[in-house]
Amino acid sequence: SGYTGINRDYGAELAFRKVKGNIVWHKSSVGKVHRQELLQQKGCVIWITGLSGSGKSTLACALCQALYSRGKLTYILDGDNVRHGLNRDLTFKSEDRAENIRRIGEVAKLFVDAGVICIASVISPYRRDRDACRELLPEGDFIEVFMDVPIEICEARDPKGLYKLARAGKIKGFTSVDDPYEPPLNSDMYLEMASSVLGCLASSVLVKVWFKHLIF
Ligand code: PPS
Repeated sequence: SGYTGINRDYGAELAFRKVKGNIVWHKSSVGKVHRQELLQQKGCVIWITGLSGSGKSTLACALCQALYSRGKLTYILDGDNVRHGLNRDLTFKSEDRAENIRRIGEVAKLFVDAGVICIASVISPYRRDRDACRELLPEGDFIEVFMDVPIEICEARDPKGLYKLARAGKIKGFTSVDDPYEPPLNSDMYLEMASSVLGCLASSVLVKVWFKHLIF
C-alpha cells in the first residue's frame, strides 16, 4: 500500500482508515479473504430464532455436526451458553435482551471476519434487534432461520421446566407467555417442526440449501 513509508501522508491514511471519535481502525495485512482462502470456506452467520423449546440448539448442533463432517469450521453461539459468560450481566428485560442480541451480533460479525460459519441459536424475540444484526454484515452473509414451532408444542415439551415456572408466576417476562415474540416476516429459511427429531433432517436440508454459499 502507499501508506507504509516514513513520509506517509497521515491525512490520507486517516481518510483511508475508518475513524470514529478518536478511535482509528487498524488494518492488518492478513484479512478476511486470506483467512477464507486458508479455510476454504466462506464465513457467514446462520441465525436461528424461535421460542424456548422450539429446537434451536438441537438444530444448531446437528448443523454443526453436518458441516464438521464436511470439513467446515463452525462455531455455535447459543443464548444459554453466552449468558454464562460474556452476557452474564444481562437479564431478560427488553433492554437487556436487546443488548444480548447486539453483543451476539457483533461477536458473530467477528467470526465471519475470521472466516468461520457462525451458528447463533438465540430466541432473539424482537425483530428490530435481529434486523440490526443483519445490517452488520454484507448482503447474503446473514441467514435467518425461523423455527416456527407453536407455543403449545414448546410448552408440552418444556425440556427445562421453565414454561411450568412461568405459568406459575415464578418466572416473569417469559417469551410468549408474558413477553412478546415477533416472528420474522422474511426469513431466509422457514422451518415448521412438530418434533425435534426432525432437527437432523432440517440440518441436512439446510446444509444442501446453503452449501453453495458456505463453500468458498
Ligand atoms: S433472548 O430473548 O434472545 O435474549 O434469550 P436467549 O439469550 O436466547 O436465552 C434464552 C434461554 O434463557 C432461558 N430463559 C428464558 N427464556 C425466555 N424468557 C425468559 N424470561 C427466560 N428466562 C430464562 C431459556 O432456557 C432459554 O433457552 P432456550 O434454549 O431458548 O430454551
